[in-house]
This record gives sequence, structure tokens and C-alpha cells, in this order.
Amino acid sequence: MAFDKIISGGTVVTPDGEQAVDVGIVGERIAALAPGLADAPEGAEVIDAAGHIVFPGVLDVHVHLELPFCGTVSSDDYRSGTRAAARGGVTTLIDFAIPYGDDTLRDAVDNWHARAEGKALIDYAFHVCINDWARQQAEVAPLIAEGIPTFKEFMIYESEGWMSDDRTLFNTLERMRDLGGMLMVHAESARVLDELIARFHTPDQMKAQGAYLHTLSRPDYTEYEAIQRAITWSEVTGGPLFVVHMSTGRGADLIRDAQQRGVKVLAETCAQYLSLDDSVFEGEDGHLYATCPQVKTKADSERLWQGLKDGEVSNISTDTCTFTREQKAMWGGDFTKIPMGMPGLETLLPVCYTDGVLGGRLSLTELAEKLAGNPARVMGLAPRKGAVAVGADADLSVFHPDAKRAVVPAEMETNCDWNPYEGRQLAGFARTTLSRGEIVVDDYTVTGNEGRGRWLPRKSAGGQE
Ligand code: URP
Ligand code: ZN
Ligand code: ZN
Repeated sequence: MAFDKIISGGTVVTPDGEQAVDVGIVGERIAALAPGLADAPEGAEVIDAAGHIVFPGVLDVHVHLELPFCGTVSSDDYRSGTRAAARGGVTTLIDFAIPYGDDTLRDAVDNWHARAEGKALIDYAFHVCINDWARQQAEVAPLIAEGIPTFKEFMIYESEGWMSDDRTLFNTLERMRDLGGMLMVHAESARVLDELIARFHTPDQMKAQGAYLHTLSRPDYTEYEAIQRAITWSEVTGGPLFVVHMSTGRGADLIRDAQQRGVKVLAETCAQYLSLDDSVFEGEDGHLYATCPQVKTKADSERLWQGLKDGEVSNISTDTCTFTREQKAMWGGDFTKIPMGMPGLETLLPVCYTDGVLGGRLSLTELAEKLAGNPARVMGLAPRKGAVAVGADADLSVFHPDAKRAVVPAEMETNCDWNPYEGRQLAGFARTTLSRGEIVVDDYTVTGNEGRGRWLPRKSAGGQE
């Protein structure tokens, strides 16, 4: 067979384990996995991966680009966000289309298409957020038919106009059950959170404890109570549920127990909940780390790593929602005014590879399942995405197993002048990234053209092995 490109001499991470094979690419797809393909290249471009890992392109299924939120707009758009993604070995992202004001769900999807059009370097898809069930429910079936089977509801964020109550969650889960969709929830207890924030929101407390109040006001039960409630609605309705950005060990316990009872519930965690802990709020820059839910304790991180290993945590995302120092400075000493979110796309694979694989918590094959195989299956993008396999899109990253690079914001594609992992040395940055057979990162530098990324319609959601 004649190939257009051959990736030769690397350790290829397949769903069946690590294999010493070459990867033959024809057009946009992987056409062969076999040793010695590069011995007779017959005109194919040979990409030397000797001494390197050839990893499936990562899917980050929880991303916010150019998001109006907390009185500002997140600073990574489809240009900088997808360039950052590619440099971190991410070849597919899923963003959340959110209706504002009187927007219909259709308006939200059209607005998000317009954001991505002409800018995206890698492939992308959308989840759609429901924030007014009575008005928007009739749009669910047409959107599923169009290729968007995943919907999100927020159990908090009343002031943003995004919050859904239990009645809405219950109704949506029934609809997901009937139509083959999946409900994603941001699970935090709105009313208890309101009460705790009010207790800490005094001039004296803010002067004394600053951004540390962001974590003090959000104890772990504000997350796991809401997870339990959402699981209950999933259990009684039979509607498939996906808990987004789970940050607590107790949440993982609830997911495991529910799955053992046969509840159709899955959960993701994010890199920041695995690799940061609440000590980040202690320093002068503590406010930079405010995200929602906030990072918890070291014990929570270890429980989440264990949940990934054992299976109750299906995948790792980033919840990328980047805010610069200037934007974060809007807090002015008031912990309730910090724009919540942080950059993540560029460091997802490096952080998870360094702390997960080099840290002895996951094997390389397990990490590939958590960053590519499972998110592709759960979000209805397999078998086209998510695995180094014949017939799949040639979405791949090539990285050195132990050469580390410093995290330096000024050298990154992410549109941000700080980074949560600044100062750390991380392995796993992509030397080469291919998206549908095209080299988009070469020698750690983005080379692909903006606008080449395609929107991916999806037929199903909720699948997992
Ligand atoms: O702080 C965060 N996570 N910002 C993005 C919105 C959300 O809750 O996912
Ligand atoms: Zn959220
Ligand atoms: Zn989010």
C-alpha cells in the first residue's frame, strides 16, 4: 500500500497496549499499523518517532472559548484556544453553546459556530446549555437530530441567568432517556453555597483571608450533595447523566456506588483537580486559581486518580476558561467577584502524563483511555476519534517520554500571562501533532492553518467500555 505519511520507530499507544509499529497514513486516516512500513516508503513523508511515544490525539470534552462570564469574556478564543490545544496534543475539543437573554438554543448554536468559523485549527463539537426549560424544551429533539446529543444544565449561577432547578433536571433527564441524549450537570448546591458565601462576605473576613475565602465558602459537601441529588433524578427517571468537572473524592464514591446499582451515570474530572490543591489560595496570587468548583485537597486528588484507575471516573478534561491577570484583578479583594476559570488546553496532556504516568498512578495505555478512548466513546465520536486504530482519523501526538519543558506563559499559545503550572517542568508537550493526517505542530511549534478545523456532528452519547 502507498502511504502519504509514515510515522516510524515510535512506541504506539493503542487500545490494546503499547506496540512497536509504524503508523501508515493515507489522506486523513490511519491505513496501517505494522512494523517496517518505513523500510520502503515509496514517496511517503516519513516522520521519525524513534525514542518517542505516539499517542492518540487527546479529546478535551469540556472547554469554554470566548465565554461571556463573570462580567468579562474568557481570553482564549477559537484561534488561540485551538493553537494551544494542538501544542498540547489535543486534536478535538467540545465547547458549550450557551443562550444569553432571550436566545433560543438555535441562536446559541449559531453563535458558537460563528465563533469557531475561520479560526479553529483542530476539530470541534458543541454541547448545548439549557437555561429555560419551558421555552427551550421543544428544541431538544431537532438538535439531537442535527448532531448535538449532549445538553448541559447548571445547578448554580443564578446571577448569570444559567441556573436550572430540580424540576428542570428531572424533566430533562426524562427527555434524554426518551430521545437518546445525555444530560451533563454542573453539580453544586446553590442555596447552601449562597448561605456560606454570605457568611464569609464581610469586610473583616475579606481583609483577613482574601482569596482563601473562595475555598472556605465551598466545602466539599456543596459538590457531593448536588451530585447525590442529580444521581437520584437519574436513577428514578432512567435518564443518562454525566457529572462535569468533579472535584471531590466523596463525589467519586457516589458515582462508584451509583454505577454499581446500575444507574446510567458517568463523571469526568479535570487536570486541575488532580494536580493542584487548595494551598494555591494561600499566596498573593491565590485569586488567580479561583475556578468553579474550586480545587480541593490532596486527598481528593488521590481519590480522583484512583477513580480514574478503577473506572468510575471516565475521563479527564480541562474546563478551560482562561482569564488574564488583568481580568482576574477585577476581584479587587472581593472573593465573590473573581472571574472563575483558568487555562488548561495546552497543559492537559503534559500535566496528566507527568503526574499520572511518570508519577506511577496510571499506565500509558490507561492514560490514553482517559484522555482519548473514553471521551470519544462517551461523547459519540468513536470510532472516528479517540484511538490509534486502522480506519480512525490520523489524530496523533508524538512526544518524548521523559524530556521535560518548563511552563513559561510567554512561550505558550494560550492567551494568558500566567499559568497554574508556571515554574513546573513537564514532559508530554507534543513535538509533533497531526490532525486528520496533517502536521499542525512541528518541533513544538504550531504550523497548521487556522480555519482548517471542522465541526463534528455526533449521533450518540453515553457509551463507555
Ligand atoms: O470556573 C469555571 N469552571 N468556569 C467555567 C464555567 C463552568 O462552571 O464550567
Ligand atoms: Zn461548570
Ligand atoms: Zn465548564
